[in-house]
Formats: sequence, C-alpha cells, structure tokens
Amino acid sequence: MDELQSLEQAQAAALAALEAVNDEAALEAWRIAHLGRSAPVMLAFSRLGQAPKELRPQIGQAANRVKQALEEAFAARAQALKEAALQRSLTAERLDVTLPGRRPAQGSLHIETQTLREMYRIFGEMGFQVFRAPDVETDENNFTALNIPPYHPARDMWDTFYTTNPGVLLRTHTSPGQIRAMRQFAPQPIRVVLPGMCYRYEQASSRKDIQFTQVELLAVGYHITFGDFKGTLRDFAQRIFGESLRTRLRPSYFPFTEPSAEMDVECVICRGKGCALCKGSGWLEIMGCGMVHPTVLQNGGYDPAKFSGFAAGIGPGRVAMLRHAIEDLRAFYINDVRFLEQF
Ligand code: DAH
Repeated sequence: MDELQSLEQAQAAALAALEAVNDEAALEAWRIAHLGRSAPVMLAFSRLGQAPKELRPQIGQAANRVKQALEEAFAARAQALKEAALQRSLTAERLDVTLPGRRPAQGSLHIETQTLREMYRIFGEMGFQVFRAPDVETDENNFTALNIPPYHPARDMWDTFYTTNPGVLLRTHTSPGQIRAMRQFAPQPIRVVLPGMCYRYEQASSRKDIQFTQVELLAVGYHITFGDFKGTLRDFAQRIFGESLRTRLRPSYFPFTEPSAEMDVECVICRGKGCALCKGSGWLEIMGCGMVHPTVLQNGGYDPAKFSGFAAGIGPGRVAMLRHAIEDLRAFYINDVRFLEQF
C-alpha cells in the first residue's frame, strides 16, 4: 500500500505548503509543484498501469480524491489571496468621499459691468431704455450737431483719435448718441440711457485714461423742467451711493446744454467733513449735466418751442471708484486678477 501512503503524504505536504503561500507568484509555483504534470499525484496516475490489477481502482480513486482536494484547496487559497489583495488596496488607496471637492476657478462680471447694470436697473425703473450707439462716429455727431462747430474753442475740451477717413473719429463722449437717439425717435418723447466706450487723446493718469466707459442720459418731452432734471439725478445719486447722501448742482459749461451744471454728491467716506478721497472738500463730482440746448433739440429733430429735456454724462468707472474707494482708475483695464476678483 506504498502508493496510497505516498499519496496521502503528498496531499499533507501540499496542503502544508499551501499555508505558506501568500502571493500570486508563490501560488502559481505551488500549482506547478502540486498539480502540474510532474506533481506526485499526477505521477501516481501515470504509474497506475504498473500497479497490480486488483489495486488499481483503489489507487485510482485515492489519486482522484487527492487531486480534487488539492484543486479545491488551490481555488480557496486563490480566492482568499484575491480578497486579501482587495482589502489591502482598499485600505491603502482609501478615498475620503467626505473631503470637499476642488472648486473650479469661478469668473465674475467686471466691476464696471456690474456698475453699469446697477445703473441700467435704476434708470430702467425710472423709464429709461438702453440705446446703443457706435464708438466710431462722425465729426458731425460728436461735435457739430452738439452745438460745437469747427471754429468753436470748446473743441479744445475734447481731443480725440482721428481715422484716415475725413470727418470720422473715435467718439470723445457718449453725447453723439443723443443725436442718434433723437433722430431715430423724433418727434416722440424719449428717455434713453446710452452706455459705451469713449476715447480721448490725453495723458493717462490715475484719474483719467485714453479710453473709458461713459453713460449718457437723455430725456426729451413736453414740459420737462429743471425740477424734473434735478429730481431725477438726485434720486439716481442717492440710489447708487446711499439714500441719506446730499447732492448739489454747481454751474458749469457745456456747449450742448443750457444751463449746464456739474453734480456733486456728499463724500461717501467722510460725509462732508473732508478727507483724502474728496481732497478735503467734502464733495465728490459725479457727472456733467444740464437742460438740452435748443440748437441740439433742433438738430435732433425736435421743435425747441414745444420740447424740452435734460441730459447727463456719467462715468461708471468713477461711480465704481467712489463706491468701492478704488484709488487708480487704470486698475480697471490692466486685468490684474487680484484686483478683479475682489468684486
Ligand atoms: N459729454 C460730456 C463730457 O464727456 C459730459 C456731459 C455733460 C454730458 C453734460 C451731457 C451733459 O449729456 O448734459 O465731458
């Protein structure tokens, strides 16, 4: 019964060796040694023919049992190793699903766009509609129709960039939009707000640049008085800067308005006491304005005997500077994210 004994020994040895198997490579080596072609159990099969005939069934069955036992042990070990590997990688590569995600960088509207929208909202509530006019203008609309004929010294107030096309220039203010709006709607009464980029041939500084955004305001209708003008602008100033702030109109000069004024608002920082922002005056200048000059009304297609109106030019950059105490206007255009992302 040597053969049966050695089969049993082979099984015991194989199972003992399997205990020590701890990885895929060792498992494969074990499979070759104990279930491969020259494994003891396999050799027992090939020796079967040499065994005495009456013992063959017994030996054959024993060999089959051993082979099956080894195959089952192998499968169980393989499964256990797989699970252990999975556990290891779950521990080692643990994902903390409660960690906050990485936020994508979020852009925001430019401070000037935000200010513009706030202005449209306020003027919109008062019945003013946004009207768009081009940056490239005619000399006629930018100057002449606004009561600034070619010989007039007031042209010195607005130098600009000229195109090679005679009589075509980059607008120096949004005021030529007044002419376009009036010519489009006359003789209907209008209330429009005209935003856009303006250009000046000037030395840039912390307070002015060669290009800047302006918002023009224009109301033309029957019986529009200086009281309407002052009330509308004061209401706007208080809504955008603060309800309790006082405003004042100072006499000024613009060729396209008569009378002309400049509106100041009480300093948002010191409330009139005098500080660095208002340069000690207690007031901040926010816009040029006035009652539309009869010549301009006429150039726009309105009869100045029947119609009157008011107009204003406001810099949203200046509005934003005053509201957020920004010191240098050039920060608006140099695209420094550290500045832009504050708003
Ligand atoms: N266009 C003027 C400028 O840029 C500002 C201005 C003043 C506009 C008075 C107006 C106004 O509509 O009535 O200097």
